[in-house]
Amino acid sequence: METLTVREARSPSAVGREIRLQGWVRTRRDSKGGFSFLELNDGSCLGNIQIVVPGELPNYESEIKRLTTGCSIVVEGVIQASPGEKQAVELLARRIAVFGWAPPESYPLQKKRHSYEFLRTIAHLRPRTNSFGAVMRVRNTVCRSIHEFFQEEGFLYVHTPIITASDCEGAGAMFRVTTLDPTATPPPQPQDDFFGKPTYLTVSGQLEAEVFACSLGKVYTFGPTFRAENSNTTRHLAEFWMVEPEAAFFELPDNMDLAERFLKRIFRDVLERSAEDMEFFARWVEPSAVTTLQHVLQEEFVRLTYTEAVEILRQSGQDFEFPVEWGRDLQAEHERYLTETHFRKPVILSDYPRAIKPFYMRLNDDERTVRAMDVLLPRVGEIIGGSQREERLDVLTRRMEEQGLRAEDYWWYLDLRRFGTVPHSGFGLGLERAVQFITGMGNIRDVIPFPRTPGSAEF
Ligand code: 4AD
Ligand code: MG
Repeated sequence: METLTVREARSPSAVGREIRLQGWVRTRRDSKGGFSFLELNDGSCLGNIQIVVPGELPNYESEIKRLTTGCSIVVEGVIQASPGEKQAVELLARRIAVFGWAPPESYPLQKKRHSYEFLRTIAHLRPRTNSFGAVMRVRNTVCRSIHEFFQEEGFLYVHTPIITASDCEGAGAMFRVTTLDPTATPPPQPQDDFFGKPTYLTVSGQLEAEVFACSLGKVYTFGPTFRAENSNTTRHLAEFWMVEPEAAFFELPDNMDLAERFLKRIFRDVLERSAEDMEFFARWVEPSAVTTLQHVLQEEFVRLTYTEAVEILRQSGQDFEFPVEWGRDLQAEHERYLTETHFRKPVILSDYPRAIKPFYMRLNDDERTVRAMDVLLPRVGEIIGGSQREERLDVLTRRMEEQGLRAEDYWWYLDLRRFGTVPHSGFGLGLERAVQFITGMGNIRDVIPFPRTPGSAEF
């Protein structure tokens, strides 16, 4: 007998087959006619399958009638067309065995809708809910698209290190990695540490990705990144996943084209491959979840400079919480105004003031701005940050001095400019911001399996 997933069993072509299913009971309903209905879910898709349980099964009274939400079972039987209106097929059970019980007095997930806040306190059980299951399946679809897109475009997947001695994005937001005991006397010295120098969890794989772009051409890295900023917002995590393409001979417009093609590919794939889950988000989470994606697919992304954006914001007549002034970083409210209200489509902002961007971004001829680009989307604001990189040794060295970085610490990064330097560009997409945008989920903590935020790392 074949074991199928619920997803496979629900397809009309399964009718007539004798199969086995395994999963968790969502609900049980007893009929007056002396039989019962179970709704079974195994995570393979959003929907459940209906199991019809005849009263004649030997364990009907002793076990089946004690089944409650969360119990795990194996069912054997025949798939048949369902007379009911809610489902096309159902399974007529011939044998059911119980793997594990889930006493309703203590099992925290019951049939009612639980709040996302509550579900975060049971992160080990929330994947059994409709919403979190749907998030995880969409997240998987996105990851599959990411790899497919870059592989098809000829990018090589490189694995950049997680433990690093260099700061990519600028001081102050890194987790220290150490084996030293801070309480030891005398106090431990950095040179006695495991790596013989201070090391950190990486904030970005970019610097190492540049090494491989400047030798293999087009590469991408995709892995966890870490930021110790104490920002308790709905868009920040201390540990998140970032995909970072880096390409030799790419200038900023090439980088923008790549980012736009990339995002559209992901959105198209999700609409196609995760249609059932997307309908769920549109129904229960964010009414515009599907239509926003469709809209974004049809639109060309607006491209404008930071300076132009500041002009628009200043003339908007909006009462922003944070002032808009040339030279200051844009806040989420400004980003959202541009993409949600003013343009009503995705925006790629470029050429930011040099003082608010990291040292590696290429300096423009005006000496005031750098070749930065941020992609802004409705609801989440910045989803991608990237730039053309500074490939001129003298300018880069000057920029590092300006930002208080020691050239000796970056000698290998500077070597890329000493030997066979080339123009190159890249960007980083925050995976969770992407999943947040796609699903319409309001809080980034609800789109990652085990969120790490200030004060919280229980699971
Ligand atoms: O703009 P960021 O800081 O850019 C970089 O790290 C570059 N080195 C990337 C590159 O050019 N290769 O971060 C890139 C993206 C942001 O646009 C955002 O989507 C996401 O990473 N991100 C975060 N996501 C969740 N929590 C945080 N604390 C995040 N910080 C950045
Ligand atoms: Mg950024």
